[in-house]
Amino acid sequence: MAAAASPLALVGAGAVVTGPADTGPVRHPGADHLGLRTGVGVAIADGRIAHLAPEADIRDWARERGADVVECEGRLVTAGLVDAHTHAVFGRARLEDQARRARGGDYKAIAAAGGGILSSVSDFRSRGEDELVALTRNRLAHVAALGTTTVEIKSGYGLTLEHELKALRVVRRLAAEGPLRLVPTFLGAHEVPAEYRARRDAYVRLVIDEMLPAVAREGLAVFCDVFCEPGVFSVDESAAILEAARALGLRAKLHADELDPSGGAELAARLGAASADHLAAISPRGVEALAASATVAMLLPGTLTFLGKTRQAPARALFEAGAVVGLASDFNPGSSPTANLPLVMALAVAQARFQPEEAFLAATVNAAWALGLGADAGRLTPGGRADVVVWNCRDVRELAYWYGMPLAWLVYAAGRPCHHLGAGLSSIGSGVSPLSPRSS
Ligand code: NIG
Ligand code: FE
Repeated sequence: MAAAASPLALVGAGAVVTGPADTGPVRHPGADHLGLRTGVGVAIADGRIAHLAPEADIRDWARERGADVVECEGRLVTAGLVDAHTHAVFGRARLEDQARRARGGDYKAIAAAGGGILSSVSDFRSRGEDELVALTRNRLAHVAALGTTTVEIKSGYGLTLEHELKALRVVRRLAAEGPLRLVPTFLGAHEVPAEYRARRDAYVRLVIDEMLPAVAREGLAVFCDVFCEPGVFSVDESAAILEAARALGLRAKLHADELDPSGGAELAARLGAASADHLAAISPRGVEALAASATVAMLLPGTLTFLGKTRQAPARALFEAGAVVGLASDFNPGSSPTANLPLVMALAVAQARFQPEEAFLAATVNAAWALGLGADAGRLTPGGRADVVVWNCRDVRELAYWYGMPLAWLVYAAGRPCHHLGAGLSSIGSGVSPLSPRSS
């Protein structure tokens, strides 16, 4: 771990968006939940937010402490974004899959041609732990530069005891290095590997009897996830794996109802899973089940867009039913080679009819809730971890507007600077404060 960063004061922000004061998830999110404050500064010391207070008080604090002072010049300040669904530990990119898809190849044709998840599996198995650490460390530097400071990372390209543990050890090493906060998830049931195709029951037993106990023994994962989909793992198989995980102290997550409705969302709600992810094919019953639970409906609109799908998860139905809706990148080499959460927020608005404020709260407060970090991520609170982004824009709605543009200006993870956008780039947009009457 690096030495503690020096004390720091962020002043001159046009607005500070703290998120709601309450540490629970947000249902029916709206502008009222943003915690929009003006005229305040942020004091950071020992990796924590020391004060969120009127500008003049923060300047006094900085003088007394000899703290570094950052002039934000009217920019927007928020908590670091939270990416609650990634597969960031992988080897090579799958460029052929993308080209084949553009020629009309579907999931099965791509797999038959040697692509798909199993091609990432054979590639992953051929790489050593140190090499995967180096590859993933570089990717995480890109993630930080996009304004994300907390990242869930799943295993799932190993699919043997040895290689699944290798994936999770990579995450553990990078978590210890910092600066980003990493949350590890065991996804041994991501696919049935080629060598078990004729005896899939034996693979489920391997996951339950050998992989899970080993993962738990080494304390390598907080969550256990399963790809619950007809033709991959059934609802019953998923339930068996997640119940075994729970007995070992791992909380459930589920890739659910991605392609066909199979009752995955209902299972996630019944098990009290932290999240049910994808949900493009969720049934009306699934919507009701999630709305009646604290399980986050984690939508991944980037994945559907990258795959060229026209159907999105029914975000409006989920919001209106009162579900806790989250957004994540699904960063992986097959279906979502991006970790750009502001881009995902823009896609959520354009493709899935989120309001921009809903998209922001989904990728911060509700994403943190899906990682069991409701009290300490996705919001700015005195005493909380100083994961803070100064954005090169002024209005929180702009994060879901300038899609694909580099928007994070300064990024701090636990008070440590981990990204600074080119010094010559000033705030994007008209320069008119969105808080002024002219902007509305
Ligand atoms: O979440 N759906 C399953 N898993 C990933 C895809 C992983 C891959 O194609 O490598 C997903 O989209
Ligand atoms: Fe995924």
